[in-house]
Amino acid sequence: MNTLIISDSPRKEGNTETLLSFLEKELINHSISANFISLSGKNIKHCLHCDKCNEINSCIQDDDFNNIYKSVLRNKGLIIGSPVYVGAPTSLIMALIQRMTYVSFNNNETLSKKIGGLLAVAGE
Ligand SMILES: Cc1cc2nc3c(=O)[nH]c(=O)nc-3n(C[C@H](O)[C@H](O)[C@H](O)COP(=O)(O)O)c2cc1C
Repeated sequence: MNTLIISDSPRKEGNTETLLSFLEKELINHSISANFISLSGKNIKHCLHCDKCNEINSCIQDDDFNNIYKSVLRNKGLIIGSPVYVGAPTSLIMALIQRMTYVSFNNNETLSKKIGGLLAVAGE
C-alpha cells in the first residue's frame, strides 16, 4: 500500500515533521511505502465555491492545490499532521481539506475509499 504523509507545519524540521518522520519509519518497517509532502511555503487558497471542479476533478485556481490533490489520489493512505493553532488545525490545512473534500464530492467521491490518519501536535 502507498501512503502519503502531509506535514502542515510552516516550520521545517519542527515538532510535526519530527513526529511524522517516526511514523514514516514505522510504516516502512511494516512494508507500507510512504511519500512525504511539506506544506511549508505552499500556496493554498480558500475554496471559491464556484463549482467549476464539477467533472474536471481539479480546481481552476492557480496555486499548489492540484499537485497535492493528484498525489493524494495516487496513494491509498493519507496521513495529515498539523500543529495545533489556538485549539484547531492551521488555516492552511483546513483550506486544503475543504477544497479536496469539495472536488471529491463533485467528482463521484474520489476520496471515499481512502484510509486516513491524523496527528495533532501541540505544546512546545
Ligand atoms: C499561532 C499559534 C497558536 C498556537 N496555539 C496552540 C494551542 O492552542 N494549544 C497548544 O497546545 N499549542 C499551541 N501552539 C503551539 C504549537 O502547537 C506547538 O508549538 C507545535 O508543536 C508546533 O509544531 P511545529 O514545531 O511542527 O511547528 C500554537 C503555536 C502558534 C504559532
